[in-house]
Amino acid sequence: MSILVTGGAGYIGSHTCVELQQAGYDVVVLDNLSNASEKSLERVKALTGKEVTFYRGDILDRDILNEIMEKEKIDCCIHFAGLKAVGESVVKPWEYYNNNIAGTLTLVDVMRQHGCKNIIFSSSATVYGDPAQIPITEECPKGQCTNPYGWTKSMLEQILMDMQKADPEWNVILLRYFNPIGAHQSGTMGENPNGIPNNLMPYITQVAVGKLKELGVFGNDYDTPDGTGVRDYIHVVDLAKGHVKALKKIEENAGLSIYNLGTGHGYSVLDIVKNFEEATGVKIPYSIKPRRAGDIATCYCDPSKAERELGWKAEFGIREMCADSWRWQKNNPNGYED
Ligand code: NAD
Ligand code: UD1
Repeated sequence: MSILVTGGAGYIGSHTCVELQQAGYDVVVLDNLSNASEKSLERVKALTGKEVTFYRGDILDRDILNEIMEKEKIDCCIHFAGLKAVGESVVKPWEYYNNNIAGTLTLVDVMRQHGCKNIIFSSSATVYGDPAQIPITEECPKGQCTNPYGWTKSMLEQILMDMQKADPEWNVILLRYFNPIGAHQSGTMGENPNGIPNNLMPYITQVAVGKLKELGVFGNDYDTPDGTGVRDYIHVVDLAKGHVKALKKIEENAGLSIYNLGTGHGYSVLDIVKNFEEATGVKIPYSIKPRRAGDIATCYCDPSKAERELGWKAEFGIREMCADSWRWQKNNPNGYED
């Protein structure tokens, strides 16, 4: 089977390419490299021994999408391509709505014109807003997003659901990721953020490698055991494997399905600092800062639906997530730029 992986050169996409190839799928990547390096795909090949067919281009470009659909006989698309920086989305809402929403509308239109109606979409726990219940199940109502990035995920879920309802030939799987961290155990692939990281783990690894002085902990007065924010961190390789399981579900012509992909465990910011220090032996200096706008106290999921229906369960624990994030950062202090 031939799988189109949009955004396949990025963090989650590149790890998913490894798992797909190892499971025997043919992988075609479309990525405009706006937030990635082609080197990630060389690393995929080094790990799997298989070539990734790579198209450098944009999901907004019908011509390249037509070319791919005609030449590569795509059976299913795993759609990662999108802009994802929360703060930037507040400053550049048009760019986010255009890239993520118009881009996805273009992609699915070209797909259906070529008779390919199978899509797995990268959604996010952000669609739950400030969640109505913890742990969060898929039945938990969607909430108010605090930024345009979050709204693109929420709106795209609705668009894909409406398309599937109108045309039941579509098989749509919405995967709501919790907080992906970690890196491939080889230490050759990992997250490669531009500039100063916004997210917790890349910030910690850059403090550990000496690029940043100390971690700012955003608030210690939340209603959580130690006052710092609690999240459901998930190893990126577990997340990647979830996509392979989702593909099997697509092959059953399952219509519409929605799954949380997380571990079901919540860790606070200070838990992560402690686990990182214990897993790596590197001390992380930190200081308490004010709360970050838009943050919530606690977010972790009930991942049992994915286990029941996909046979997927996260295998890696927090120590492995920390150790693997560190191995990648230590071996590649400048990401893929070296
Ligand atoms: P990433 O930025 O590493 O990967 C996204 C990829 O898409 C990049 O390689 C980028 O170059 C490419 N891209 C962006 N716009 C494009 C366009 N118009 N045409 C072609 N390629 C384009 O991000 P990631 O962390 O790997 O995230 C992958 C997906 O998962 C995104 O949709 C993201 O919103 C979603 N997601 C990520 C997280 C997370 O914490 N990383 C959490 C929830 C959901
Ligand atoms: C953020 C986004 C979310 C997105 C996700 C993955 C916000 C409000 N939410 O989730 O939409 O899907 O990233 O890209 O930005 N923290 C610190 N210091 C730091 C960085 C983070 O204390 O330097 C804390 C945060 O306050 C939070 C936790 O660490 O409690 C995790 O933060 P982060 O990694 O940014 O993820 P989320 O905020 O959960």
